[in-house]
Amino acid sequence: MTAAAIARVRSHEGTRPASERLFEDPYAALFDDTHVDVQQMFDLIPFFEQHVRLRTRFFDDAVRLAVTRGATHVVLVGAGFDMRARRMPELAPPMRVIEVDHGDQIAAKQQKLAAAGVAPAENVAFARADLLEEGALARGLRSAGLGAPVKALWICEGLLGYLSLPAIAALAATTAQFSLPGSQLVANHNVYSWSPAAIAEPFQAAGYTVSPPPRYVDLHRKWIGDADDSAGSDFAFLVADR
Ligand SMILES: C[S@@+](CC[C@H](N)C(=O)[O-])C[C@H]1O[C@@H](n2cnc3c(N)ncnc32)[C@H](O)[C@@H]1O
Repeated sequence: MTAAAIARVRSHEGTRPASERLFEDPYAALFDDTHVDVQQMFDLIPFFEQHVRLRTRFFDDAVRLAVTRGATHVVLVGAGFDMRARRMPELAPPMRVIEVDHGDQIAAKQQKLAAAGVAPAENVAFARADLLEEGALARGLRSAGLGAPVKALWICEGLLGYLSLPAIAALAATTAQFSLPGSQLVANHNVYSWSPAAIAEPFQAAGYTVSPPPRYVDLHRKWIGDADDSAGSDFAFLVADR
């Protein structure tokens, strides 16, 4: 349901007038299971659609900024059906992209892409890892070819709510270990799963500097239009720099 709902929002973006689109995702329709009634999800979580639109734009902008700052790697942690590696020209070679997820999720994505005739991208590597398992992220990153620390942007989009606090601490420590100075980690979370302070703590402990993140309501006002002060207040971002 979540995967279909996210894909539906991203796919629908392409039907908006060009001046209103926050991003382009021509691949999203491949992952939209039209048999799933995603309206339930939209009804259950107010602001869900705008939240997915705004977070997608926020992480896209983080990619653009990282590229201008000289990042060589973008790591999509909990990549799911994210097609940033394909749809963003900024992520074409020589940029390297690593997609981290459960092995079965990676296989499902590869099968869908192959069935649609989309050839594998030479600059995208896959790291199969269960982030709840100790040491799995480091092993996955090494198996995806990451030997030494790199200047990276780590994107944890829609991920943190699935992890335990120890797993988030391990994620912070491992990403810090593989990051050269100038790297950044960006994430989003629901404030009822993790408060901003609870999320910031393990990243600060791992050596990251956590900055005040943008608020959804401000992004809404910037990209979509005026909004009530409470708009998107359930959702938050994390911006952490090395
Ligand atoms: C809500 S989806 C978000 C996917 C993608 N980042 C996006 O925004 O389209 C969460 C992703 O995190 C992955 N994930 C959740 N728990 C995980 C874990 N313990 N280890 C590895 N990946 C996990 C899921 O398999 C799924 O692909």
